[in-house]
Amino acid sequence: MSLPDQPPAVPTVATAATAIPLSDPALAERLVERMRTVEEALAEAVENADRLADDASRHLVAAGGKRLRPFLTLLTGELGDGTRPELVDAAVVVELTHLASLYHDDVMDSAPLRRGAPSVHSLWGNTVAILVGDLLFARASTRVAALGPDAVVRQATTFERLCLGQLHETTGPAAGEDPVEHYLQVLADKTASLLATAARFGAVYGGCDDEVVEVVGAYGEKLGVAFQLADDVLDLASSGAESGKTPGTDLREKVPTMPVLLLRQRVARGTTQPGDEDLLALLDGDLSSDAVLADAVERLRAHDVLAETRGLAVRWAREAAAELDPLPEGPVKEALVRFATALADRAA
Ligand code: IPE
Ligand code: IPE
Ligand code: MG
Ligand code: MG
Repeated sequence: MSLPDQPPAVPTVATAATAIPLSDPALAERLVERMRTVEEALAEAVENADRLADDASRHLVAAGGKRLRPFLTLLTGELGDGTRPELVDAAVVVELTHLASLYHDDVMDSAPLRRGAPSVHSLWGNTVAILVGDLLFARASTRVAALGPDAVVRQATTFERLCLGQLHETTGPAAGEDPVEHYLQVLADKTASLLATAARFGAVYGGCDDEVVEVVGAYGEKLGVAFQLADDVLDLASSGAESGKTPGTDLREKVPTMPVLLLRQRVARGTTQPGDEDLLALLDGDLSSDAVLADAVERLRAHDVLAETRGLAVRWAREAAAELDPLPEGPVKEALVRFATALADRAA
């Protein structure tokens, strides 16, 4: 008697944490192959003749990362002609822009770890981290120029939004502004802007018409908010081994995140549970001791503001997927929907 055939394995793409099961094996194969080309182009794009610049600019590319933005560009490129070489350039531009922003972000957030490796500033100091971040932005600019003036403008306005998002995160809401609404705008600017551009670039350089470009742009905007809300959850819920980052980094540095803002909102509205005021006082106090920080992380992890943030991430991901409604059904649309679900509910 022969054993029943195994069901065909569903191919997965991207790194383990956010692997997207793709129903079309040919699509998966093409994407894996093109991601390899992107990887080679990326390695080349961060090379430097100067030894210090070379080591520091290769550091994070070599450390890993999920490569979500270039993957998204290649995926939306499949809505048109996914074989166009400009798609690889566009994918490299979005990853370089992201990479550079990480160099700067880790300085601002005093983050000790990134992609499971010591952060650049912790190895070479803030000055080197900032300058090499700038160097990578410059490399992104050189490459985007090859795509033409529209791409240059798009990348520049994305970078502007990214900076404004980081700036507004630092300044906090103006008097009378709702802190949660303010924070959602911060997320849209600092994170969603680049995911939207990654999605748009794919459609543009895959040769899709303007309607498709707008559809995937709107998808990327909502996807980005979902993604960053999930990142806020990860800062508390994920182990350093999973995320490659140090849990509680944002808490310690008093960088606002959605779970803390929701707790603050409950206290302000008087809709608290026992212990909420104490927890907020702990969060607003000195978290420099590892034991105190671990206690704060532990208590927030157990609090339902974490589940509420997760719920918000899932809702934004659903709304992102709904933006795709005008697109014809097919494996690419399906993959984009799965991508949104995976990003809202991830472990790294
Ligand atoms: C980290 O982005 C910065 C955010 C916008 C949350 P990723 O989680 O995509 O980081 P890598 O590229 O995989 O390291
Ligand atoms: C990163 O935001 C956003 C950008 C790099 C523009 P976070 O500071 O929340 O991201 P992580 O948690 O350090 O990756
Ligand atoms: Mg950070
Ligand atoms: Mg930050």
